This record gives sequence, structure tokens and C-alpha cells, in this order.
Amino acid sequence: MMYNTSSNRVAIVGAVLLCVALLACAQPGPTPQAIGPFLVPYPQHLQQGEVTLPVDPKQFTIATTSSSQILKINIQRYQKLFFSAGPAQQHTSAVAALTLNINVASDNEDLFLGVDESYSIVANSHELTITANTVYGAVRALETFSQLITFARPANTYSIQYTPITIKDYPRFQWRGMLVDSGRHYLPVDFILHILDTLAYAKFNVLHWHIVDAQSFPVQSSTYPDLTNGAYNPIAIYTHDQIQQVIAYGKTYGIRVVPEFDIPGHSASWGVGYPQLLASCPSYASNTNNLLLNIADQYTYTFIKNLFTEITPLFPDNYFHTGGDEVILDCWSEDPSIVAWMTQNNYSLVEAEQYFETQMSNILASLNRTKIVWNDPYINGVQLDQNTVIQVWDVSNVTQQIINNGFKAIVANAYYLDKQVPSPFNKIHYEWQDTWQDFYSYDPMYGITENGDNILGAEACMWGDQLNQVQFDVQVWPRSLAIAERFWSNEAIVNIDDALVRIEAQSCSIAKRGVNSGPLFPDFCFLPADVPSGQHPILRLTPEQVASILRK
Ligand SMILES: *[C@@H]1O[C@H](CO)[C@@H](O)[C@H](O)[C@H]1NC(C)=O
Ligand SMILES: *[C@@H]1O[C@H](CO)[C@@H](O)[C@H](O)[C@H]1NC(C)=O
Ligand SMILES: *[C@@H]1O[C@H](CO)[C@@H](O)[C@H](O)[C@H]1NC(C)=O
Repeated sequence: MMYNTSSNRVAIVGAVLLCVALLACAQPGPTPQAIGPFLVPYPQHLQQGEVTLPVDPKQFTIATTSSSQILKINIQRYQKLFFSAGPAQQHTSAVAALTLNINVASDNEDLFLGVDESYSIVANSHELTITANTVYGAVRALETFSQLITFARPANTYSIQYTPITIKDYPRFQWRGMLVDSGRHYLPVDFILHILDTLAYAKFNVLHWHIVDAQSFPVQSSTYPDLTNGAYNPIAIYTHDQIQQVIAYGKTYGIRVVPEFDIPGHSASWGVGYPQLLASCPSYASNTNNLLLNIADQYTYTFIKNLFTEITPLFPDNYFHTGGDEVILDCWSEDPSIVAWMTQNNYSLVEAEQYFETQMSNILASLNRTKIVWNDPYINGVQLDQNTVIQVWDVSNVTQQIINNGFKAIVANAYYLDKQVPSPFNKIHYEWQDTWQDFYSYDPMYGITENGDNILGAEACMWGDQLNQVQFDVQVWPRSLAIAERFWSNEAIVNIDDALVRIEAQSCSIAKRGVNSGPLFPDFCFLPADVPSGQHPILRLTPEQVASILRK
């Protein structure tokens, strides 16, 4: 079988010896341990046996009495994904036909924070069953079930090992997000759909779409068509239809899409088409990240209200992120019209920021949306509306203060995929991919001693300054499998050696599905020639050409 532990051990010992011989030692990683089934994220409750149940893809069906369209789409999807590891050979002995029965208590497809994602699975020789309260629980279960089906080489047969299996599972946190930044580099819509696939494989349930930033404004607007003058290119934009495609595709996986329009900082791109929106602060203009909206001009608020009135129906989720980070307040002090407005209202810079945040809360409340901001305004001393959700990039004692003050929080500080030393624990790893252990070792509740119920969950953040679709997968996976487990699984699941083998197995599985997710230790992952699917050879030599060229 593919994830043979003894050969892994041999390979690792070999690698360590080689490293000693070369006197250029990578620190040896954790030691892979034999366990199974190799599930990521690890379920809350798992009972397993020792019986291997052979599976013949030609005699395997998925059945349900549910009429949910979303469940039907997922049955189609997973009927393929269950057997995506390679073309199956016949088992040497006769194999029984199998049916996986999916029972969902409700066909309601409403998707919202806290939707029931729990499920159970029973798998033994006379029963394969998924049971869930909602279609989204069933979707999570299908992913888990796909991980129970393993492909054995060299026989090339499918089976379910470790039966009888009973799984009862549910997420630890309701909010398990990933920030994707299409403001710094435009990501094609097809690639965002691909990201949604990959997030679902790891049971993430929020795409935090940091859709615009100082560098580009790629969102089409009918109210303010010149906003896309701030896009990198007229083709580097998201039309309303494309945005709806993303939302609908995410919904098929139970992934909510939460947009972020980052203001009043990071808004230089808004000013390309509508210069009146920006404050004038010449000494900050050399760094576009530092330019701010003109908060003194009522035009700004009318503009934002009209734009959000157009945009919010596209994003049905109840939550809407308005950024609020890295506001270089002194920029406003350079603009005479803003200084005059502050004097007239007797506002300090922080009170000016507070005025802006209050207007944003009012606008979003009128559109029935809950505002999310980064923790910066809170740290500046802005009195935020009590309904505001605060996303924390700062240290954990800031999270503690925020939740003690009754705010709901989303923890992001330790999960920055763009950083080389991602966690405050400051572990230095020789091998770059080994930073998965830092993410894995940082609990979202780290440093939290009270009011933990106010933590909605956590987010991995993949900032896009140095990233586009070329290396997105490679930077995000397999490390985000570790993050996904931290967000979903029981807090007691912390063993690095155990996680390593499971993450390695799942990294190989998603690679077979077309994700550029590589290995964490020396082993063999059989990738069919047409995977990853994005790679299409331009030219191959025929045997005759090879012979003819080599003859010369
Ligand atoms: C406002 O949003 C909530 C939560 O999404 C929803 O239940 C409610 O029906 C909405 N109200 C209106 C007036 O749209
Ligand atoms: C202006 O604000 C300061 C500080 O909040 C306060 O002490 C002062 O009384 C205010 N002045 C007026 C005219 O409101
Ligand atoms: C939070 O912790 C940091 C060190 O990690 C410390 O410098 C800072 O003063 C602390 N802040 C508060 C408000 O406790």
C-alpha cells in the first residue's frame, strides 16, 4: 500500500544519513507514525477495526432520498473524487456491489455562519451510511468518506481499510476562513473556483475575498463604472456574473464568501477613476498603501453607500468586511479641507476615524450586513459599534481585550501563509514547508483565559503582494491542511508525528485532484500523467525523433 510506514521510515533514515554525510543538515522532521485511516482534519470521534473492504468503482453507487440540488451536485462530484487516485484494476477475488446511503434530515440549503456541519459515517461490510442534519453536513461527510477510500499500488485496487468504522464529527469553530487577496494580483475566476475546491477538501468554510486593495480595483460597478479604471487591466476585472459564479460555486461546498472592501486606508485604486474620493497628502503619496479616503467630504459617504447598495446583493452573506487596517492618520492632517472639517467639529484624528467607522456601520446596518474590521481602529481607541466583528492580526492579548469588551473576534495573527516565520512562537525551520508545524502548534485560543465564546473562529491569510496563480497552491498547500485541522479538530489533537503522516497522505490525494500540493518528507506519491491538470505539454518527442536526434 502506498503510505507504507516502514518504507517511509527507511526513506527518512536514509535522508538523515545523507544529510550527515553532506554536513549540510536539514533538521530532521518529525517521525512518521503508522496510523489509519489518514483523515485530515481528524474527526472528533473515530472508531475503527482491522478489516479491509474491497471496493469496485464500477459497482459503487451513492444514493439519497434528498431532493437538494446541492447534494446532487456533490454526489456527482464525489462519485468522481472517490476514485480519482488512478484507473482501477479488478480485485483478484469477487467484490460485492456497494451503495453509500446519504440521509439528510433537511433539504434546506440556507448557508450562514453556524450552519450545522455535523455528520456521522458508518462503514462496514453490510452498511455504508452518511447521516447529517443539513446538506452541508453531508458535504463534509462526503469529503471524509473520500479519504476513507484508499488506492493500493501496485495492485491498483480501491478499498476501505480499518472497517468497521464509525465517525461522529463536527467542527470546533464555526468560522474557518482563508483570506485570498485579488487586489495585489488579479486571480482569474477559474482559479478562484479552483481555490474553492481546495478549501472544501480541507473543510474550510469561508472564503474571505480581499477583493480590492490600494494597487487595483477589479470589481465591476454599474453605478460607478470608472472604478475599474483602477484595475490593472480592462480584462483583469470581476463582472457581476463572475462574482455570482464564485458565490454559487462556494455555496455548493458550504463555503460562505465574505467580501472585503478595505477602507479608508488601502484605497488609492478607488481614486484612479474618482480622484475626489482621496485625501490629499503629498508626503505620503510615494507609498500607495498609505493613501486614505477623504473622510471630510459627504461625497465619500454617498459614494460608498451607493456602491455598497449595488454590491451587497451580489454577496448574500450577512457579513461584510470594510478593512480599516493601517490607516496612516497623519495623512489627513496634510489635507487643508480635512483639517478645517476636524477643527469645525473639534475632532482629533482618532475621532475623525471614529466618524468614518460610525458611517460605515450605519450604511451596512441599512443594508442588513454585519460589519467586520481589522483590529486597528480598536487599538487606535475608536469606539466601535458593539455588533462589529473584529478580525485580529495582533497578539493574543489584544484578542483577549477585544472579547472581554464583548466583541466577537476572528483570530488571524498566527496564520499568515506569506510569512517565513509565521507564528509568534518564532520557530526557525530549515525546510520552508516545515512551517506547517508552527501553524499546527498555534491554537486559536492560545493566551485566551476568559470569554472564549466570543471567538467565532480563525482565518489563514494568503496576502498576494508576491503571489499569483502561478505559485498559489505551492505556498498554500499542504501547509493549510495543518491549519484546517487546527480550526476543525479537537484541541487535544496536537501530535506532530501523527499529523505528519495524515497530512502527507491527504496532500498526495489532493495532488491527484489537480492541486499543486507537494510532499513534507521523502516518499512516493503516484501522480497520473494528466495531473496536475493545469500542465499541458507543448511538445513531446516521439521515439523516432529521440532516436534520430541522438544519432547526430
Ligand atoms: C437580514 O439578515 C438576516 C440574517 O441574514 C435575515 O435573517 C433577515 O431576514 C434579513 N432582513 C432583511 C430585512 O432582509
Ligand atoms: C474639543 O474637544 C476637547 C477634547 O475632547 C475638549 O476638551 C474641548 O472642550 C472641546 N471643545 C469644544 C469647543 O467643544
Ligand atoms: C501584549 O503582549 C505584548 C507582548 O507579546 C506586550 O508587549 C504588550 O504590552 C501586551 N499588551 C497588553 C495590552 O497587555
